[in-house]
Amino acid sequence: MLRLLYPILLPFLSLLLCSCASPWHTIGTGTSLQVDHDKVLLISPDTTFSCGFYPSGNGTNAFYFSIWFTHAADKTVVWTADPRFPVNGQRSRISLNHEGNLVLTDVNGSTAWESNTGWGRGTTVALLDTGNLVIKASTDKIIWQSFDSPTNTLLPSQRLTRENRLVSQSDYHVLYFDNDNVLRLLYNGPDITSIYWPSPDYNAVQNGRTRFNSTKIAVLDHEGNFLSSDGFRMVASDLGLGIQRRITIDYDGNFRMYSLNASNGNWDITGEAVQQMCYVHGLCGRNGICEYSPRRVSWSGPCWTRLSCISLGQVAGPTGWSCDCWAELSCTLVEQPTGAACTLLSVV
Ligand SMILES: *[C@@H]1O[C@H](CO)[C@@H](O)[C@H](O)[C@H]1NC(C)=O
Ligand SMILES: *[C@@H]1O[C@H](CO)[C@@H](O)[C@H](O)[C@H]1NC(C)=O
Ligand SMILES: *[C@@H]1O[C@H](CO)[C@@H](O)[C@H](O)[C@H]1NC(C)=O
Ligand SMILES: *[C@@H]1O[C@H](CO)[C@@H](O)[C@H](O)[C@H]1NC(C)=O
Repeated sequence: MLRLLYPILLPFLSLLLCSCASPWHTIGTGTSLQVDHDKVLLISPDTTFSCGFYPSGNGTNAFYFSIWFTHAADKTVVWTADPRFPVNGQRSRISLNHEGNLVLTDVNGSTAWESNTGWGRGTTVALLDTGNLVIKASTDKIIWQSFDSPTNTLLPSQRLTRENRLVSQSDYHVLYFDNDNVLRLLYNGPDITSIYWPSPDYNAVQNGRTRFNSTKIAVLDHEGNFLSSDGFRMVASDLGLGIQRRITIDYDGNFRMYSLNASNGNWDITGEAVQQMCYVHGLCGRNGICEYSPRRVSWSGPCWTRLSCISLGQVAGPTGWSCDCWAELSCTLVEQPTGAACTLLSVV
């Protein structure tokens, strides 16, 4: 009997074996991937996003379970399961177990992260073309999605709500909806906690916001409009369909809109929230004063912006910024178009 079936089964068997190799578009319960066998678990149907093990990149053999832009030159990460706990580059694994729980296990068997879902057999995990990693029950109901728990990046159609927030990689800068319904940036450092955007020197109305819409939703659409229920609006300088975009709260505490140049895989800044970087708390460290001085060298000449950190005698702590404040120091001079208002466009 077996001998008879063998020639019939063989093609199916090899087909099964072939389809066993990751990356998949969708996985079912009982699927797992070990970090030293392969790095990519899932790829979105149009290949824009990949999900799997991503090197921590600081010279250690540590990996995160992340989602990233497949075609960006630097494989930009858009989501990480738990940025605090990378796993070992050997024998760690990500598995969708038979309970329907997606679990990241470290080499020693400890759970580094889990989705805490338990809808049992028939559970599937898929990476969508939007960059959303979704876990579905057998009924097709979405029981968990990465879009609900962003890290430092918001993708088009992903909602910032009263229930989530963006946090910079340094862990110090937070974009969130405040109790009075206003979208704000907060510096939450080891010594101080303070709001720096919109300007704390003005009230909501003066900052062009409303406190009376309690929806608390901010979303970036596919054309490049980032709209918040408090009236804040950021429009991409390259407004239009067909461009990959993201909004990221950067290491320096500012949040920016980026557009992907599809021909070289690099990102262009197409929008920026904080125009005056000295408002970003923590920029100059504990003992530093940030001084912002836009000026024109001559009346018709270009406008230069000087952003400097001035140390108050002692060593100023790490700034999360490309310039350290060891002493009186000028960070950058940014040339701006002749005749333009003296505002800070970007800092490099
Ligand atoms: C590498 O990064 C991880 C996670 O941020 C951190 O736990 C670890 O201490 C870092 N290692 C070094 C050598 O910086
Ligand atoms: C496994 O390793 C992690 C990270 O090094 C550690 O935090 C955890 O306590 C370890 N767990 C066990 C059971 O040894
Ligand atoms: C409140 O914000 C939501 C989401 O942006 C919007 O759809 C709604 O029209 C706003 N309501 C009012 C009264 O402005
Ligand atoms: C994209 O990159 C190419 C090659 O570097 C360049 O020629 C082009 O101008 C860029 N497009 C945009 C919109 O910046």
